[in-house]
Amino acid sequence: MCGIVGYIGAAQAADIILEGLSRLEYRGYDSAGMAIFDGEKINISKSVGRLKVLEEMTHNGETMPGCVGIGHTRWATHGVPNTVNAHPHFNRSETITLVHNGIIENYIALKEMLKKKGYEFATDTDTEVVVQLLDYYYKGDPMEAITKVLQRVQGSYAFGIIFAEHPDRIYAVRKDSPLIVGRSKDGCFIASDVPAILKYTRKVFYVDNQEIAVLFKDDLRFYSIDAEEITKDEVFIEWDAKAAEKGGYEHFMLKEMYEQPKTVTDTFSPRIKDGKIVIDDLNMTDEELAAVKKIHIVACGSAYHAGVTGKYVIEDLARIPVEVDLASEFRYRNPILEEGAMVIVISQSGETADTLAALRESKEKGFRVLGIVNVVGSSIAREADSVMYTWAGPEIAVATTKAYSAQLVALYLLAMKMAYVKGKIDDVELDSMIEDLKCIPSQIELLLGNEKRIQRFANRYVGAKDIFFIGRGIDYSIALEGSLKLKEISYVHSEAYAAGELKHGTISLIEKGTLVTAIATQPQLYAKTVSNIVEVKSRGAFVLAVTTEGNDEIEKNADYVIYIPQTNPLFMNSLAIIPLQMFGYYVSVGKGYDADHPRNLAKSVTVE
Ligand code: M6R
Repeated sequence: MCGIVGYIGAAQAADIILEGLSRLEYRGYDSAGMAIFDGEKINISKSVGRLKVLEEMTHNGETMPGCVGIGHTRWATHGVPNTVNAHPHFNRSETITLVHNGIIENYIALKEMLKKKGYEFATDTDTEVVVQLLDYYYKGDPMEAITKVLQRVQGSYAFGIIFAEHPDRIYAVRKDSPLIVGRSKDGCFIASDVPAILKYTRKVFYVDNQEIAVLFKDDLRFYSIDAEEITKDEVFIEWDAKAAEKGGYEHFMLKEMYEQPKTVTDTFSPRIKDGKIVIDDLNMTDEELAAVKKIHIVACGSAYHAGVTGKYVIEDLARIPVEVDLASEFRYRNPILEEGAMVIVISQSGETADTLAALRESKEKGFRVLGIVNVVGSSIAREADSVMYTWAGPEIAVATTKAYSAQLVALYLLAMKMAYVKGKIDDVELDSMIEDLKCIPSQIELLLGNEKRIQRFANRYVGAKDIFFIGRGIDYSIALEGSLKLKEISYVHSEAYAAGELKHGTISLIEKGTLVTAIATQPQLYAKTVSNIVEVKSRGAFVLAVTTEGNDEIEKNADYVIYIPQTNPLFMNSLAIIPLQMFGYYVSVGKGYDADHPRNLAKSVTVE
């Protein structure tokens, strides 16, 4: 969602802001803008569309000189995407400017109050209310105005603020929207995410809810919402800066697909020691783990799909009942969390608003929450009782691939560990599973080698209107993710169905030539899925089958087959998803779309 970058220091702010915003493009946006103090006054430039429009408009920042500035990429929530609604916004005397990520829930009431005091509003945004409220409270002391505003606004926010009367500083504050502060010898930075400032510094501070950061060119201070100074620990970011570059690939998505062997290895290898699974980050003894009676997995989108696979794997191995919920449903359904239950929230970004709310709801009810998270220091990572990191590194493409693969592996490890401590599997079974896990990276490499074949196949379907994905059990969870990968970046309507459910309605949508992707990797369900293939074939469908090596007789029924190497059936998702990711990617590319920036989508959904 919206991206924020701010800089104060010795260099030209516009250069750094434009560069930083370009690193946040992956978050999704529809307009961009920046405000720079030129030594006398604040100047603002804004544009609709891609960042390059703003770059051209400002001659790459040259027309906006100054060493203090804030910039923003906006993903519209309140008010259409246009230049007026783009951030930064001004107060009425153009002496205070602000950028915002989040939603001010009580903006209508605040707007009414300000209108009665004579304020006029130029935009349809919730954000403008905040800058006018700052104007209302500002009597010469920015900190006093900010703390008063924070007491009035409700909702989620990350703000960057400049006061023309105090141009030696930038104020930054957040609640439930991400914001980091960085420091280098040449100045201080604010950003929504680490990649925006990684080129300039690896020294960052994670701003906590309702903390205020004040950035000077050579100093940094933090305050509580009551304006009391606080100390915070600096965090050194270990990420390889190249991880946030395209490295010669046409899209981040393609690059990230190719990073999956490494991601999978990085997620499991530190957790296998002397033939045993050691998950230190769980902070739970084997006895505590064995005592877990029920698991609730809560997540959104692809992370939810990983959770659906996790349910099958945990229930099968550890024999613990698992419920999987969409976070947006879980948080409002007054869930029953029983004695002995553990909640697992899964999130790449660690900032997804609904998942974070589900975590809080669970903690409020007194339940232990384990976060499976990719971004170190994110809100979910900080608020969960324990965190199992998926070591996927920065994921830039909106459509997740490598983080999803890492989530699967984290869930397998957890399932294996729980099964072992509960005595459901013995050393021999555990060894065999670990050996299978260790083969997955090279098997993924093999599947990635099919790229050209899948591209050719995808090119035949760039004109498709509807594509279906079917499967049973774990294959159904693979279908869910395969379908999402396709639709989110290629805009082809697609649905995933439990294969056995087809006859209860969906089969009426199958007509001559409809592509049905049938996933049949689970030995005990294979024959059943083949029957479903026969059913759709006889109604004219063109069937792409994804099955394991050795199932050659499927060629009698399917029109096109992709074979997956053999592994433990419980780990099949890690392999079968690779050609489906590639298929979605190449349908998108074939249609001429930018797979990294799908319309209307944001990488990190920080609002409800
Ligand atoms: O950051 P999160 O894992 O919490 O994000 C959840 C979903 O928004 C995300 O998985 C989304 O569905 C993917 N970008 C789809 O590829």
